[in-house]
Amino acid sequence: MELKIMSKPEIYVAIKDEIQSLLRRKNNAVLGLATGSSPIGVYDELIKAYKEGDIDFSNVTTFNLDEYVGISEDHNQSYHYFMNEHLFKHVNLVKSKTHVPSTNKDSEDYYQNYDQKIKDHGGIDFQILGIGSNGHIAFNEPGTSFDTLTHEVTLKESTIKDNSRFFNSISEVPTKAVSMGLKSIMNAKHIVIIITGSNKAEALKRLMSKEVTTDLPASILCKHPSVTIYADKEAASLL
Ligand code: GLP
Repeated sequence: MELKIMSKPEIYVAIKDEIQSLLRRKNNAVLGLATGSSPIGVYDELIKAYKEGDIDFSNVTTFNLDEYVGISEDHNQSYHYFMNEHLFKHVNLVKSKTHVPSTNKDSEDYYQNYDQKIKDHGGIDFQILGIGSNGHIAFNEPGTSFDTLTHEVTLKESTIKDNSRFFNSISEVPTKAVSMGLKSIMNAKHIVIIITGSNKAEALKRLMSKEVTTDLPASILCKHPSVTIYADKEAASLL
């Protein structure tokens, strides 16, 4: 794992640059996308580059990490909605090439077929990740087996609390989700993880201790051959 400490605006541009150079080499690359506040700045940079004619997404396929269970795709807190608002509707990604896991058995993105679908596309070339304050990645909470593929999960109280800021009240936050598993994520060829803010400092410190433990789901990344951690000063304050 390579650790880069920079300001948030620098992080967003650096990751946009990585994606841009990937797409220059491989215009039909497969991107693994994340939700949460951490990647929004990257999406803003990608939109800017697209509008300036510097990036073409027409041959790109995307797979999102996760989605809540129990709220509709057009609910303003669903990850379908999030992706549409923060990226998809602003660039020339082809809708049928964008995938978000689903619990709907009739959907082509049904979660039990999701890993096979990713494989059929040649795997994820570039995976963007955020991290929860408890060290979760996607919705793989502490205790999740490192062998998991895309699966249904029950969210931890701390995650429900963290994410309640986006809902009217904590009782509206879904308690279940579907999420790519830790093995699904480890199958990506290259991974970047964005860790910013003082509330992530403890998680980054534990990650950098390089102890691989299911108590810190992100710690499995230590075993991946190509991971870049982008952290800001606040997140790095305990290192
Ligand atoms: C949610 C998402 C994760 C994300 C995390 C952190 O739980 N499922 O993918 O990494 O939130 O979100 P934020 O970037 O807003 O701190």
